[in-house]
Amino acid sequence: MKTAIIYVSQTGFTKRYAEWIAEEVQGDCMTVSEAEKKDLSGYDAVVFGGWCFAGTIKKLDWFKKKAAQWTNKKKVVYAVGASPLENPELEEGLRKNFTDEEWTQISVFYCPGGICYEKMSGVSRTMMRMFVRMLAKKKSEKEQAMAEMLGKSYDLSERKYIAPIVECLKAE
Ligand SMILES: Cc1cc2nc3c(=O)[nH]c(=O)nc-3n(C[C@H](O)[C@H](O)[C@H](O)COP(=O)(O)O)c2cc1C
Repeated sequence: MKTAIIYVSQTGFTKRYAEWIAEEVQGDCMTVSEAEKKDLSGYDAVVFGGWCFAGTIKKLDWFKKKAAQWTNKKKVVYAVGASPLENPELEEGLRKNFTDEEWTQISVFYCPGGICYEKMSGVSRTMMRMFVRMLAKKKSEKEQAMAEMLGKSYDLSERKYIAPIVECLKAE
């Protein structure tokens, strides 16, 4: 199955997952801007990876617009965020980004990323710092723990998280 892996990444986590998937399925890895200049008609499957931004997935609308025309292609989305895979609110949060129809046509996955303040843009860093300060003011243990975690850089990414994506791509 000829596979394109298209991603958008600010600090490198989503890119790393794209490269791991490409290695595993011998696919072609490219950014959204590279994909825009390419003819994607020869691909049997398109994987889109975007990082989570305030409950949304970056550039997902771009992918969904394209995907609507790809009736014969396998369509996969993976989102990369700061939360671990065990987060109970994850599935519901992802689901909100898709209509019922899109949810049946696109296979959706989550891969834990992390936080990298060193590579973040100034705007992103300011937004994260504001979010952390807001969380730190809350009383609940959960929010206090989140503020503690998000206050510094960390890396949750591991190659094993691509296994369900690879399985989906290899399935008939
Ligand atoms: C402004 C901002 C908003 C974010 N919002 C979310 C979010 O809603 N959910 C989440 O899990 N992660 C969120 N993140 C964390 C990023 O998704 C995470 O750092 C991700 O690994 C970045 O991927 P990248 O390295 O490919 O850019 C946010 C990060 C920033 C800077």
